[in-house]
This record gives sequence, C-alpha cells and structure tokens, in this order.
Amino acid sequence: MWAIEVRDLTKRYRGNGFAAVDHISFSVESGEIFALLGPNGAGKTTTIKILTTLLKPTSGTAKVAGFDVSKDKDSVRKSIGIVFQEPSLDWRLTGRENLDFHARIYGIGRKEREERIEEVLKLVELEDKADVVVDKYSGGMKRSLELARGFIHSPKVLFLDEPTLGLDTHTRRRIWDYIRELNGKEGVTIVLTTHHMEEADYLCERVGIMDQGKIIALDTPKNLKDLIGSDLVSLEMNTRDYNTDIFKKLDFVTDFRKHDDFVTLKMERGDLRIPAIMEVARREGVEIKSVNLRKPSLEDVFLHFTGRRIRE
Ligand SMILES: Nc1ncnc2c1ncn2[C@@H]1O[C@H](COP(=O)(O)OP(=O)(O)OP(=O)(O)O)[C@@H](O)[C@H]1O
Ligand SMILES: [Mg+2]
Repeated sequence: MWAIEVRDLTKRYRGNGFAAVDHISFSVESGEIFALLGPNGAGKTTTIKILTTLLKPTSGTAKVAGFDVSKDKDSVRKSIGIVFQEPSLDWRLTGRENLDFHARIYGIGRKEREERIEEVLKLVELEDKADVVVDKYSGGMKRSLELARGFIHSPKVLFLDEPTLGLDTHTRRRIWDYIRELNGKEGVTIVLTTHHMEEADYLCERVGIMDQGKIIALDTPKNLKDLIGSDLVSLEMNTRDYNTDIFKKLDFVTDFRKHDDFVTLKMERGDLRIPAIMEVARREGVEIKSVNLRKPSLEDVFLHFTGRRIRE
C-alpha cells in the first residue's frame, strides 16, 4: 500500500523563471520512514507544502493516504500531521495547552484528549515540563513538543520539515529516537526533509536525494552508497619502510595511496577483503598496527551525482 504517490510534480513560483520542484515522481510505502535529502533551495519544503495541501502544484499529481492533494484537500488534511521548518508553537501557552489546543482543532473529545496528551508527552519525555510556558523551553524541548503536537491526532502520515535543524548532536539523537519509536509503535508513515546525511542514513528506509528541484537518486541508503562502490581501507604500519608493492599487486585493489606509515587502499566490499590483506602482510612480514574501513557516505553519493557537497 502506498501512503504517498507523486507523479511528475512541478512547482513554479510566480515571478520565478525556474521550477522550484521540477517533474519529480516518487512513492512512499505505508509505515515507511522516507527522507528528502538535499542542500538549501533544493525544493524540499516546496514539495512538503504541496503534499500537505498548503501550496498548489503547477502541474503533476500527488496522492497522500489515497487522496488527491488538489481534489480532496480536506481528506488529505485529516490524514496528516505536520512539523514545519519554521517554529510554530504558541510561546505564551504551556506545553500541555499547545497540545490541547491542537487536539481540539481535530475534534478529539476531552477524555481521549487528556489520555493522548499524557501519551505523547511521555514519548518525547516532556511530562515534567507540561505545565511550563513554552517560552521557557530549550530549543530541543520546543522541537520535541512540536513533534508531539504533529502526531497527537494519530495521523496516517507525518511530515517533518527539517526536524532537527539547529539542534546539538545529543538532542538530535533524542529526536531521532522519538521518530523511530513513533514509527515503530504507532506505525505512522513518516516523510522528513533534511540536510543531514547521517540523519537520512540513520532513520530512513529509503532516501530521495534532491538537487535544484529534481530527485537525482532514490533508493535505500545502503544501495545508494553501494553505487559508489568502493570502500577505503587504511592500514597503519609499524614502520615507514615497507614494500608497498605487496598491496598494489592485490587484484581487488583499484586505487592506492601511501603517506608516511599509512597506506590507503580503495576496493569494493572492503569488509570481505580485510582477511586477505592481513594474510599478505603476514606472509611478507609487514606488521600492521591498525586497520580502518571507511564506507562511502550519502555525502559521497551527492558528490558523485552533482560534483558538489551538500553543505557549501
Ligand atoms: N514563496 C516563494 N516564492 C518564490 N520562490 C520561492 C518561494 N519559496 C521558495 N522559493 C524558491 O524555491 C526554491 C526551493 O525552495 P525550498 O524552500 O523548497 O527549498 P528547500 O529545499 O526547502 O531549502 P532549505 O533546505 O533551505 O529549507 C528556492 O530557490 C527558493 O528560493
Ligand atoms: Mg526547506
């Protein structure tokens, strides 16, 4: 079952010559965590705004939870939750009041509302702060509360536009845990956007890499990285004086760099090759102090397709 089906979607803003979203197509399966990963201005927020019915597409179609975003806006809106890129809490209200206000908009009855508020506060670990005004929350707490608000009405699909933007590494990790738990416990389909390759890599079953309005690659993080193919294996030697030819001669080594007492070998499936490398070193009497295997990252994938880095 598809939670989202996007066909040939295009958006040109009035006054802009170019397409902010340029004929993109993708589908997201029910229960999946899916990311749109890309640099500033790639068109991520524009895509999210169309899928959440806040913006009209110039052409193309999109269905969310089975409903057309242009023809059946109300049904789409009832099926989704949104956490915007820009903060949108009422800072004068407490955490609980913010949640309560939102749940009322969705017509959730008092008893259920109270239960649900406790549930979502617990998931994002804000029970203690529930009755504090949001103005006194830290950045991470505000983001956690927005996340809680986004799914309080048990949406089928939850959209998170840059859920961890501006947060420190520790807080980011906690938000990741909440997102995973939410997806696992409640089975909600999650579509998020991010600049962070680690975020997409860690959280998502599949990632669409966006650049200049287009999806330039879409697959599981693993398949995307396998596309780059080569792993980098660095060996730290006991001495600077060793015969490098023994590694060059290995038929699976596709590239080779020597620097001081380090040698870096490029190869496919380095994880399977390390024993053979160790064996040849042992045979030739070369002592290896440490071995380090580096896998290509999604940043390498972006670089491969665009010639640029995501953050530039
Ligand atoms: N309301 C608007 N009017 C005109 N152009 C816009 C509008 N909103 C966005 N754009 C342009 O559309 C392009 C895509 O913007 P969008 O906000 O979708 O990118 P993004 O991938 O979300 O970027 P970021 O990572 O910075 O949030 C950009 O070139 C932007 O300047
Ligand atoms: Mg954006």
